[in-house]
Amino acid sequence: QEDIFKKVVSHAKEYGYVFQSSEIYDGLSAVYDYAQNGAELKKNIREYWWKAMVQLNDNIVGIDAAIFMHPTTWKASGHIDAFNDPLIDNKDSKKRYRADVLVEDYVAKIEAKIEKEVIKAAKRFGDKFDKEQFLATNPRVLGYQEDANTILKRLGKSLENEDLADVKKLIEQLGIACPLSGSKNWTDVKQFNLMFGTKLGASADSAMDLYLRPETAQGIFVNFLNVQKTGRMKIPFGIAQTGKAFRNEIVARQFIFRMREFEQMEMQFFVQPGTQKEWYEKWKENRMKWHLSLGLGEENYRFHDHEKLAHYADAASDIEFRFPFGFKELEGIHSRTDFDLGAHENHSGKKLQYFDHEQKENYVPYVVETSIGLDRMFLAVFSNALKEEELENGTTRTVLKLPAVLAPTKAAVLPLVKKDGLPKVAKDIIDDLKWDFNVSYDEKDAVGRRYRRQDANGTPFCITVDHQTLEDKTVTIRHRDTMEQSRVAISAIKEIIHQEVDM
Ligand code: GAP
Repeated sequence: QEDIFKKVVSHAKEYGYVFQSSEIYDGLSAVYDYAQNGAELKKNIREYWWKAMVQLNDNIVGIDAAIFMHPTTWKASGHIDAFNDPLIDNKDSKKRYRADVLVEDYVAKIEAKIEKEVIKAAKRFGDKFDKEQFLATNPRVLGYQEDANTILKRLGKSLENEDLADVKKLIEQLGIACPLSGSKNWTDVKQFNLMFGTKLGASADSAMDLYLRPETAQGIFVNFLNVQKTGRMKIPFGIAQTGKAFRNEIVARQFIFRMREFEQMEMQFFVQPGTQKEWYEKWKENRMKWHLSLGLGEENYRFHDHEKLAHYADAASDIEFRFPFGFKELEGIHSRTDFDLGAHENHSGKKLQYFDHEQKENYVPYVVETSIGLDRMFLAVFSNALKEEELENGTTRTVLKLPAVLAPTKAAVLPLVKKDGLPKVAKDIIDDLKWDFNVSYDEKDAVGRRYRRQDANGTPFCITVDHQTLEDKTVTIRHRDTMEQSRVAISAIKEIIHQEVDM
């Protein structure tokens, strides 16, 4: 698994998808740049989301709020008081860790043991193997499961009660060692706020303390009434936006899974109080459908309903995805009650109420939120797409099977040779296609090698111009996933590509 993840990271760099930020200065930890292909893939994911959420829903509109917000926003939202991570330092290595993540990693190792038992038993029993029954009855597996549950329960309880001394005790009792040095010499656990601070204004005494937003959601809440009034929106309705968010994450690893600067795609759906459960279920279903529409495989998704809820929520669930390092959160669906709008009313002294003409009453709406990390979605799509395939002739090919709708380049046009006027025909085809799609030109190396290059780049179609093209205005079109080739008229290319890549 670790191997696959390493391949994902190096492929992303080698093919111009993701670079480490400021690499010539040895990089900046947990900050990444999207390269020429990555920027296109990211834009296409964003557009796929925007189209599904804003364009296709009559009652959802999109905004683009500023990253800087009035500092009281973060008092009202609870981020100043409650947006903390419990940190612990290792005294010998002087390295800092999130205490809860150390414990969760320990539990993940127990879960890996369960997985191993399952694989062993599946081999032993062959066709007769019943996984569910095995998990429910095997004494060793049950023992592991109980250990994992007990540990997580205790961690949850201690964090909820702010009993940081007990979190430290747990780490010591489990004998958790510093991943770098193996030392078990820990400091006390302390809370650490995740927001980045900065200042607005030039002179020292007039400057105002600001934060870089840690979520885009608050830009929607503070604009709720402006949008509702100017857009003449009737409840239920939603406001969507995409944009950067910033968190001073301590556990900065796993590539673009957890970053300090990242992008969110969020939608707040405003509903009549009392109807939130129904909308919460609806949005869970809608969002899962959106994921499945990309074809990354149903078996790679699961819901994780939260038992322990954040201070603002009355129900919450994650959509988890099978990343190369296991199932992890990709998107959150939260029923946030009237917590945010109510808090902004209190702190601003302004009413944030809606007059419901049907109910003939004023109320602060309840909110159901869907929140997905764009970078995390990028990692899901990219890591799922990267395959190494054995071919019939005994060779292997590396292919990036990105959903065609998301691929950065839709087609590459390749003249078979660099002479006889073939490059000119290829460029004419590009001039026609480029108004509809991103297309590229490649004339270097043998055509087989060019196909491999486009496979690894994720390009769904290769169009080859050869001598026959000069005679009958046809080309070969090759499909990335099946490697099948067919002869088609130049005039038919555009329609063929549209059929595959249009949303
Ligand atoms: N407004 C709700 C909210 O921000 P969250 O669970 O903290 O909820 C939502 O974040 C999503 O944002 C996550 O499911 C994840 O996809 C993404 N996300 C959060 N922190 C991230 C980070 N440090 N790097 C990349 N993506 C992140």
